[in-house]
Amino acid sequence: MGKRDLLSFDDLSRQDCLDLLDLAARMKAGSYRDLPLEGKTLAMIFAKSSTRTRVSFEVGTQQLGGHALFLSSRDIQLGRGEPIKDMARVLSRYVNGIMIRTFAQSDVEDLAQFASVPVINGLTDLLHPCQLLADLLTIKESLGTLDGRVVAWIGDGNNMANSWIEAAGLLGFELRLACPEGYEPDHTIFEKGARRTKLMITEDPEEAIAGADVVNTDVWASMGQEEEAEHRKKAFAGYCVNAALMADAAPNAIVLHCLPAHRGEEISDEVLEGPQSRVWDEAENRLHAQKALLARLMG
Ligand code: CP
Ligand code: NVA
Repeated sequence: MGKRDLLSFDDLSRQDCLDLLDLAARMKAGSYRDLPLEGKTLAMIFAKSSTRTRVSFEVGTQQLGGHALFLSSRDIQLGRGEPIKDMARVLSRYVNGIMIRTFAQSDVEDLAQFASVPVINGLTDLLHPCQLLADLLTIKESLGTLDGRVVAWIGDGNNMANSWIEAAGLLGFELRLACPEGYEPDHTIFEKGARRTKLMITEDPEEAIAGADVVNTDVWASMGQEEEAEHRKKAFAGYCVNAALMADAAPNAIVLHCLPAHRGEEISDEVLEGPQSRVWDEAENRLHAQKALLARLMG
C-alpha cells in the first residue's frame, strides 16, 4: 500500500473517519500506551500563525514517541522561492511525515504529490480537516453520536465551513449554513456535499439554527483577509452567535468554535463562556484526534 495523506476529508472513507475518532477517544481515555512514532520525525511547515495546531501536533508527536520540527516558511528556503516540489523530495529524505499550514490548497496537493512521506493539511484557505476531526470527536463526546444530529454553521463560508460540508457528506449528518450573500462556501464542495447528505444554505441565521444540536461559527476575516476585516464587519452584522440566536437552537445544543474567537463579533462572550460552549474540550481534542491521525499515517 502506498503512503496515505490527509489533504481533505476526501482522503478518508466513512469507516476510516469513525476508526480515527474511536482511536482518538481511546487515546484520550488514557488506555493507549503504544509509541508508534518512536524514532520518527514530523516536519511542521507554517506559512500562517498558529497556537493550537502547532502545539497539539508537537506535543502529540512527542507523546507517541516521535520528534516534531517547527519550520516557519519565513526561515526555510520555501520563503525565498524554493519550489514546493523540491522541498517535498528533500524533506522526504529526512523525515517520516509533513504537516503544512499555508494559503493555497494546490500547494498542499503539490507537496503530497512529490513527497514520499504522508502529508497532513494543517489548514489552507480552502480546508481545515484536522479541526474537523477534533470537532466530530467533541460532538460524539458531548452528544453520544453524530447520527441524526443537525449541525448549524453561522457566518463565513470559509475553510471551516468547507470542511464541515465535506464531513457532513462523508458521515451523512444534516448541515445548515447561514452565510451572507457573497460569502458562501466553495461551490464545488457544496454541490458534492448536497449529493451526499441533507445540506441547506440560507442568509438567515435563525432559519439555519432552528432546532440545531450543534452550533458553530468562526472568525469573519480569516488569516490572509486582514485588509477585508472592516468591510466584512458590515457584511456579517446580524451573524453573531449570541444568547438571542441560541434561543432558537435545541435546548441542549452545544456550541463550537475552532478558535481564536473575536468576542462581540461572530460570538458573544456570554455564549463562548456559557454552559453550552464546548470550545475548550474542542481545543483539547485537537491533540487526541491528531495523535490518532499520526499513529494511522506515520505509525
Ligand atoms: N483552530 C486552530 O487551528 O487554531 P490555531 O490557528 O491556533 O492553530
Ligand atoms: N478560518 C480561520 C480559522 C483559524 C483556525 C482562518 O483561516 O484564519
